[in-house]
Amino acid sequence: NSRDPTSLRTPIVAVLGHVDHGKTSLLDKIRGSAVIEGEAGAITQHIGATAVPLDIISTIAGDLVDPDDFDLPGLLFIDTPGHHSFTTLRSRGGALADIAILVVDVNDGFQPQTLEALDILKRSQTPFIVAANKIDTVPGWNVNEDMPINATYDAQSDRVSSRLDESLYKIIGNLSDEGFSADLYWRVQNFQRNVGVVPVSAMTGEGVPDLLAVMMGLSQRYMKEEMEIDVTGPGVGTVLEVKEEKGFGKTVDIVLYDGTIRADDTVVVGGQNDPIVTEVRALLQPRPLAEIRTESRFEKVDEVGAAAGIKVAAPDLGDAMAGAPVRVVRNRSLDEVVHEVRAEL
Ligand code: GTP
Ligand code: MG
Repeated sequence: NSRDPTSLRTPIVAVLGHVDHGKTSLLDKIRGSAVIEGEAGAITQHIGATAVPLDIISTIAGDLVDPDDFDLPGLLFIDTPGHHSFTTLRSRGGALADIAILVVDVNDGFQPQTLEALDILKRSQTPFIVAANKIDTVPGWNVNEDMPINATYDAQSDRVSSRLDESLYKIIGNLSDEGFSADLYWRVQNFQRNVGVVPVSAMTGEGVPDLLAVMMGLSQRYMKEEMEIDVTGPGVGTVLEVKEEKGFGKTVDIVLYDGTIRADDTVVVGGQNDPIVTEVRALLQPRPLAEIRTESRFEKVDEVGAAAGIKVAAPDLGDAMAGAPVRVVRNRSLDEVVHEVRAEL
């Protein structure tokens, strides 16, 4: 644990899954737990993302996460919609992510967008775990709020726990049908070869400590080399959405995965025809405590560093494209940066 944590980037975690399986509820639960711990300000709401620092993860996960074991700064979660019409948002989220959580309702099991999300993760070779959500809906479930899964398992009757096991093994079977060798997460030795399944309830918080512990372990173990980047260099990101914003005209919501972006930077953004060269007019973050589902009120910031979700207001963004690259120019030659962006389009 000797590395300087400020030189490590926050891993980007995409939350994917079928409509209504509980992706947003899971992030709401994590945010809510921090509020209860009196740490509401520590979790920051980004454009399309939620940043959870390591000390909060450790507070929520209790004994399962010792902050001294990790030198990553935390996790940046990207929520994605499960409705079938949002395929492009899902694939963008999946492609951007370092790691992912595939949320599956234990009762509903695999559904069309579960399979679609799996395909995205396969194609982008993103390591992931499965959150088998809504375990509290198993008939007869005895709720143990916010407890790790082994503690709450022990508190269930044999009939209830074998009913849950049945649903979990069905999910493991479905994963196997799709070519993934999977098992309950506590039986997985190598998370690169096997997919861990974590039973959780976004409603009661049961299993959420385990989920956070597994995500931290996965990022620390397998992603760290990629995180060791120059976090102070010129920013690099991807456009999530192009949006009209009152008072700002066309803006781009981006996820920055490398370096920094400043309110006076020149940036190159991928466009429908050609790369767009423009000057940042404002960097906009949701105000603290803004609702996760709405992001209508913004606050101007001078600079943000990776990983972060941020809205960029700038002239000439009319032709900007969702999914396109964004690069900060700063001390580099403009031609070179334009060339890089064009090569990625
Ligand atoms: P989309 O964004 O539309 O794809 O849905 P989502 O995956 O974000 O689902 P969301 O979090 O909105 O939850 C859908 C419904 O399931 C809501 O009514 C939640 O209250 C409920 N729900 C989510 N997680 C749980 C859970 O663990 N237990 C129970 N009982 N209900 C849950
Ligand atoms: Mg949602």
